[in-house]
Amino acid sequence: MKIAVLKETADGERRVAATPETVRKFIGLGASLSVETAAGMAASIADSDYVAAGAMVGPRQEVLNGAEAIFGVQGPDPAALAGAAPGALVVAALNPFGERGRVDGYAAAGLEALALEFMPRITRAQSMDILSSQANLAGYKAVLDAAAEYGRAFPMMMTAAGTIAAARVFIMGVGVAGLQAIATARRLGGIVSATDVRAATREQIESLGAKAIFVEKVKGIEGEGAGGYATEMSDEYKAAQAELVSTHIAKQDIVITTALIPGRPAPRLISDSQLASMKPGSVVVDLAVEQGGNVEGAVLGAVAERHGVRIVGHRNVPSRLAADASALYSRNLFNFLSAFWDKDAKRPVLPDEDEIVQGVRLTRGGQVVNQRLLG
Ligand code: NAI
Repeated sequence: MKIAVLKETADGERRVAATPETVRKFIGLGASLSVETAAGMAASIADSDYVAAGAMVGPRQEVLNGAEAIFGVQGPDPAALAGAAPGALVVAALNPFGERGRVDGYAAAGLEALALEFMPRITRAQSMDILSSQANLAGYKAVLDAAAEYGRAFPMMMTAAGTIAAARVFIMGVGVAGLQAIATARRLGGIVSATDVRAATREQIESLGAKAIFVEKVKGIEGEGAGGYATEMSDEYKAAQAELVSTHIAKQDIVITTALIPGRPAPRLISDSQLASMKPGSVVVDLAVEQGGNVEGAVLGAVAERHGVRIVGHRNVPSRLAADASALYSRNLFNFLSAFWDKDAKRPVLPDEDEIVQGVRLTRGGQVVNQRLLG
C-alpha cells in the first residue's frame, strides 16, 4: 500500500501527519511511504529525516500518484487529490460539520474519508484520540501564552527587594485541556482554581491541588450528557454560575476558558462587565475562540484588549507546538490504522460493524455513510 503524506496547505498550520518514527512503523507493516517535499519543515522535521526513515520525498503529484491512503492534519481539498488510487483512504481531521462541502467532494471523487476527530471516546480508542492528544498540548500552551502576555510573574518570589505575590489562575472547563492547564499553572507556581458543569470534575480538580469552584444546590449540577460530554445547562444554573463567576473572577489575574458543548456553539462564560471587574493587566485566554468563544470580546487569531484586560484568542493552538503536536497526532493515526492492519494484505481492513470504523468513516463507494452527517 502506498501512503501519501501531504504538506499542509491551511493558513498557519505547522503540523504534519507523519513523523520519521511513524514512517518507520508503517514501513515495518509493509507499506511504502511518500512524503511531500518540506511537509515536516514547520514541525522541525527535515526531508532528509524522512528519507533516512525509508520514505520517498518528492513533489505533491508524484506523492499522490497511485496513493491508496492520504494522510493530512487538516482535510485536503478533494479537487487537489487527482492521481490517487480509486477508493483511496483520506485520513485527517476533516471538520465534517464545518466543511460539509468537502465531505461531499470526497464522496464524489470516490474516496473513503476517515475523520479522526469522530473517533469514539472509548477505552480501546484512547491511543487513537486526536482530540485528547491535541487538547492536552493546547491546555499547556494556553498557560504559557497567558504567562507571556502577563506583566507579572506566576510564582510567589521572596527577594531582597521584597515579595512578589503569586498569580491567581482560574480554569473554566475541566476536560482534557483544562486538566493540563491546571497542572501547568500549578507547576509555574500559580494559585489555581477551576470550575466545570460536570460534577465528576470536582475530584479531578482537587487531586491536582487546585480549588474547585462549583455552583451548589441548583438542579442540573451533574451537567453530564452522552459520552461524558457536557450538556446545555438550565437557565437557573446559568444564572447561579454567572453570579459565582462574577465574584470569583474579580480576584483573578489569569483566566483560561476551555468550555465546549459538542454540536453547539461554545457557551458564553465571561461577559464584558465581568472583564471590567478584573484588575488591569489581567489576562484571559479563550481556547474555545474557534467554536464561537467563551469570552465576550475575544477576537479569533488576535490578542484583544478590554478594560485593560488582554484577551488571547489564538487560532489552532496545538499548531503552536507543532513538533510535539505532530508527534502525538502521527502516533494517534498510526495506532488507529495499525489496529486494523491485515498482515497478509499489508493494508488496513476496516470492518463495517466496528464501532471505531462506524465513528470515523464519512464516505465510501461514492456515498456519505456517517450517521452523524445523515441523521
Ligand atoms: P470538551 O472539549 O468537550 O469540553 C471541555 C470542558 O468544558 C468539559 O469538561 C465540559 O464539561 C466543560 N464545559 C462545558 N460547558 C461548560 C460550562 N458552561 N461551564 C463550565 N464548563 C463547561 O471536553 P473534552 O476535553 O473533550 O472531554 C470531554 C469528556 O470526555 C471528559 O469527561 C473526558 O474525561 C472524556 N474523555 C474520554 C476519553 C476516552 O475515554 N477515550 C478521552 C478523552 C476524554
